[in-house]
Amino acid sequence: MLEINDVEFSYQNQEVFTGLNFKLLPGEFTFLIGKSGAGKSTFLKLIYMDLLPQKGYVRFEKYDSSVIKNRDIPFLRRKMGVIFQDFKLLRDRTVYDNLAFVLEVTGTPGKEIRKRVFDSLTEVGLLHKQKNYPHELSGGEQQRVAIARAIINHPVLLLADEPTGNLDPETSNEILEILKKINSRGTSVICATHNYDLVRKFNTRIIKLEHNKAVKVVIKPKAVLYT
Ligand SMILES: Nc1ncnc2c1ncn2[C@@H]1O[C@H](COP(=O)(O)OP(=O)(O)OP(=O)(O)O)[C@@H](O)[C@H]1O
Ligand SMILES: [Mg+2]
Repeated sequence: MLEINDVEFSYQNQEVFTGLNFKLLPGEFTFLIGKSGAGKSTFLKLIYMDLLPQKGYVRFEKYDSSVIKNRDIPFLRRKMGVIFQDFKLLRDRTVYDNLAFVLEVTGTPGKEIRKRVFDSLTEVGLLHKQKNYPHELSGGEQQRVAIARAIINHPVLLLADEPTGNLDPETSNEILEILKKINSRGTSVICATHNYDLVRKFNTRIIKLEHNKAVKVVIKPKAVLYT
């Protein structure tokens, strides 16, 4: 489903990856770890093709970074959901409108929008907050809204960049449980994190980025996919 093949990537003079290889199977869950500056955010940006490699390729379903046209990138993004440490909700819109906005821009009919917003908010347990604005929610609730927004198009892949970075341990656990639940319904998940307590708790595949260059794949002996 996702393949990174022999990728080289540098910012101006900052080399981040050389010979980067990675594969993700449908339905797989993996953590992405590595110290600050190791390239976790860059890795995720290469996957949603916000950045394109200088060498090698990233292939996601039928999209290939070495030949993709700019006009195809929005279609690729509709098959992925992305969440960030700082939630990135629109402050001047209600929870409902934050979610509906994603579907309005793609011309989804109103009835379908209402159904999908309802389903997504139900999935993260926040239907009762649909009329609230982001500043009226706790950090954990805002992240749950961001997750609801990310899954509204039923993505095959969910990318999370430090989704628990601003949250306390208990709330972080809840967010991970939600990601795990989404994964159990078939969506693949890549979750970048500094939070090693969480990584230890959720026994699954772990990818480590090291030396700002290579990727080392560490798989726990007893790694299991969520069932
Ligand atoms: N837009 C940019 N221009 C130039 N260099 C950049 C840019 N973004 C990131 N870098 C550099 O690329 C390297 C990888 O950065 P990246 O943000 O991917 O790391 P990270 O693993 O996500 O770090 P953190 O854990 O702090 O979020 C770092 O050395 C960083 O300084
Ligand atoms: Mg980062």
